[in-house]
Formats: sequence, C-alpha cells, structure tokens
Amino acid sequence: MTATVQPDAATSLQSELVLVLDFGSQTAQLIARRIRDLNVFCQLVRHDISAERVKELAPRGIILSGGPASVYGEKAPKCDPEIFNLGIPVLGICYGMQLTCQALGGVVQAGTTREFGRTELKTLEDHPLVAGLPATSTVWMSHGDQVQQAGDEFIPIASTHSCPMAAVRHRSRQIFGLQFHPEVTHSEYGKQLLENFLRKCCGCAGTWQIESLIEQQVTAIRARVGNSRVICGLSGGVDSSVVAALLYKAIGSQLSCIFVDNGLLRKGECEKVRERFQNHFKTDLHVVDASHRFLSELAGVVDPQQKRKIIGRVFIEVFRKEAESITDARFLAQGTLYPDVIESGGSPDGPAATIKYHHNVGGLPEQLGFELIEPLRDLFKDEVRRMGLALGLSEELIWRHPFPGPGLGVRCLGGITSERLHALREADAIVLEELRKAGLYRTIQQAFAVILPVQSVGVMGDGRTYEETIAVRAVTTDDFMTADWYPLPYDLMRIISTRIINEVRGVNRVVYDISSKPPSTIEWE
Ligand code: XMP
Repeated sequence: MTATVQPDAATSLQSELVLVLDFGSQTAQLIARRIRDLNVFCQLVRHDISAERVKELAPRGIILSGGPASVYGEKAPKCDPEIFNLGIPVLGICYGMQLTCQALGGVVQAGTTREFGRTELKTLEDHPLVAGLPATSTVWMSHGDQVQQAGDEFIPIASTHSCPMAAVRHRSRQIFGLQFHPEVTHSEYGKQLLENFLRKCCGCAGTWQIESLIEQQVTAIRARVGNSRVICGLSGGVDSSVVAALLYKAIGSQLSCIFVDNGLLRKGECEKVRERFQNHFKTDLHVVDASHRFLSELAGVVDPQQKRKIIGRVFIEVFRKEAESITDARFLAQGTLYPDVIESGGSPDGPAATIKYHHNVGGLPEQLGFELIEPLRDLFKDEVRRMGLALGLSEELIWRHPFPGPGLGVRCLGGITSERLHALREADAIVLEELRKAGLYRTIQQAFAVILPVQSVGVMGDGRTYEETIAVRAVTTDDFMTADWYPLPYDLMRIISTRIINEVRGVNRVVYDISSKPPSTIEWE
C-alpha cells in the first residue's frame, strides 16, 4: 500500500469558507489566521486557482493577498479574471487591490512617494466596510505602486496623505480594495476591517469553532477508518498528542499508540506519556524501550550530522518493527500541520512550495505501508493547542517548549554516554523547574540545558575537581527562524547555577548562552 493524502478537507469542514489567494505575500498566512480568529474557516490557495474550482468550493468571500511583484511586471502573478464575475465578495489587499482594480478598468502606477510603515488613514465615506473606524486611524503600508485612477468603476472610501485611494469599493459589486495591510497588528483597526468584510459584506455568521471542528473530524475519521486499526506514533510533543487524543475520541480501542524511548528523552518524559495515554486516555500504548540500541549505535560518535542520521535511522527501524507487530493496522496517523502542508505544496489547491526550514529528524517515511490520516492538516499551531485543551490535554503539555526529534542527542556535545545524558537530564529539569517557578516558562519560547565537550578545573570542599560544563540556553522567538537570547534575572541565574552544581554529580561549571539566531542557531548541534 502506498501512502495517500487525505482529500481536500475544505469541502467537508465548513459551511462558511473564505479563500485567500496567495500572491506570495509574507503575510498571506497571517490573513488566514486573522480570519480564523474571527471564527470563519479560511484556506490559503494558489493565486491562479480557476474560477470553476472556486465555484465548486463555494466560498462566502475571496481575499487576494499582497505580493512582492508589480502588476505590470513581466512575470506578475495573475488570477483567473472570472473570479470577479462569480458574484462572490472580493477583497484585494495591496497587490491584490491593484490587480483587482487593474482587472476591472483602473490604472496602477508607481506612486510619487513609496510608502512603507505607519501612516494615517482618513475615512471618506460611511460604508459598512469601514464601520466602527474613527475619522482617522493608523494603518501599515508597504508599497511602491498604487492605484492612480480608479476608472469609473471604483469609488475611494479612505485615503492617506500620499495615496488617495487607500481603500476603494466597486460602484455596483461587492468588490473592495485596501492598499494597506489590515492583517498586521500595526494597522489599528485592521481586525475591525476584516470583520466588517466577513460579516457585513460576505454575510458570515462566524460560527467556526474548534469544538465544531473536533466533531466534524471525529465523524470524518470514523467514516474513513470503519473497523480498522490506526497506529499513532507519539513523540511526547503537542502535535502527536493532540492527534492521539482526537483519534481516541473518534475510535477508542481501535487506536494503538507507539512511543519509542530512545534514551535521549528529558527527565520524566516516558512516565508522562504513560500517565496520559495509558491511565488517562486508555489507549493500547506500546512503549518500546530502545535506549540501549540507540546508545550503542551512538557510542563514540561526535559529529552532529552523523548523530542525527543514526538517531533517524534507528528510530525508523524500531518504529517499523513495532508497527509490524500490530498486525491488523491499516492506517498511520500523523500530526502534520497546515504550515507544513503549505510549505511542502501538499494541498491540491495550495500555493506553490516554499522552502521548508526545519530539519525534521524523528519523522517517518511514507513507505511504511500505511494509509495516512492527518487530522491537523488544516490547522495552525495555536489552533492545535486550542483543540488539545478542548480534548482534555493538560496546559503543561499544550504549552510545552519544542523538543527536537533527535532529543538530548543534539544537546550532549561530544560523545554520548548514559552518565553524561543523566547529568544533562538532571540539569535540564532544574532549568525548566526554576523557569516555571519564576513564572517565565511561557514568556520564553524555548529553554534547555546543553552539556559541553569541555571539562574544567574546580574546587569542591578541599578537593580539586575536573568536571563537565553545562550551558543554559533560553530564547524568545516568533517563528524559531530567528531568535534572541533572553535576559534572565541574575537572581534566577544564581539559583539555577547553584542548584545544578550542588545537585548534579559530575558538573562543576555553568555558563549562560548569550547568542542570538542568526548567526547562532537555537540548538548547539
Ligand atoms: P535551530 O537549532 O535550527 O532550531 O535554530 C530551530 C527549531 O527547530 C528545532 N530543531 C529540530 N526539530 N528535529 C526536530 O524535530 C531536528 O532535528 C531539529 N533540530 C532543531 C529546535 O529545537 C528549534 O525549536
């Protein structure tokens, strides 16, 4: 059997769908998230989706995103002009506005002044799209071109000092344009504008909720799976836990979970998984203790890439063997999220592939021979968190910092031994415990301990020591692509350092990592 991709869920999930046509803007995903936050289901699709396909999907509204091109550029991405004739409300944002106006008779040119950043918007007309906006407000602009002449078809409803047509409406159709970006938080009334478009122009009631999605998914999973068995690989992280909890709700005892203990887990991780998926959700949980196998294959290996390769390979071998022992399994559930789908170009209507930034070691290959179930493939991370909480998973798990697939393997620099891993695990637990106590765990997006391949001289009691060094890392970040080191309070650093040196045998020195990404990375290997 080969892996299959689930049919596009857009048709089944939502009675109120809004499509965002992606013209390559960095904020296209953000538009989708804002719309979902307004309880309207929204999907990002290719900019050249055909009007026919749009008709099939029957959205309540269409949004054309911004984009880096100029509408007069040679390779300017266009949309099917027929989408303007479907009778579905359209909102063009920035490039999307220029394209809309151009398609319907307006003239776009380079503005006399390019506008980037904050600017003041004046509303010119009392229109439902700008309802609730004061006479002037701050918006975020980022454009060189702008609509110079709206033709006979468009009427300006707001302007800025250098952009007379900052917001326009079509004379007779439900077609609108915004030259600024309502999706970014710097646009003061951006959310209000989007809400006005959804509610007042598209007639959306805003009934999409995570609970309704759970119900829809449960029904869809039951229909797809029938009486078959589903395997779910647990990593201890948020995504796979939410998938397992959702599947448990849908199919109960037909679910088997596999958790591989690779010996590179954090303190207490295995016990927590047992507590959650054996005691709380009573799944058929297979915990495979493969720590000896991993550690013996890693013995003497110091090269980071080599470590990753070994860990990835052994994981697949161990997982495969366990999965094969579950003889009646037909499906494999995975925690693929919407950004992964978009990034890998894996959705039939999805926008073109962009570069996937993370190295997903610890994942499973498609050739395991199961049909895939990916119930989170329509969701953003924050929606997965909301779903997890609604399914009864703990706050502690839901807000857990990310932990890389290769685990402590890439935080134990130099040779990996069970003694060094033990010291690292204890030190890491102290770091996290103290951050929680100080109320900083949620302020920081990722924090951990690293054991360095450096021994140094110390003095304990009357004796000289020559022992290991622990580095502490704590970063804040929006997307893990860039990150800044967090200035931990000195008192907290003192507590962490004192506790690690006193409580963790074999460690006599603690250092704090003050490097940002780039040029460093978050992990040390
Ligand atoms: P870096 O170190 O590249 O990490 O700044 C960015 C984010 O990715 C996580 N990370 C990984 N996750 N497998 C994973 O599943 C990996 O091999 C891996 N390497 C890094 C890292 O923890 C951080 O959140």
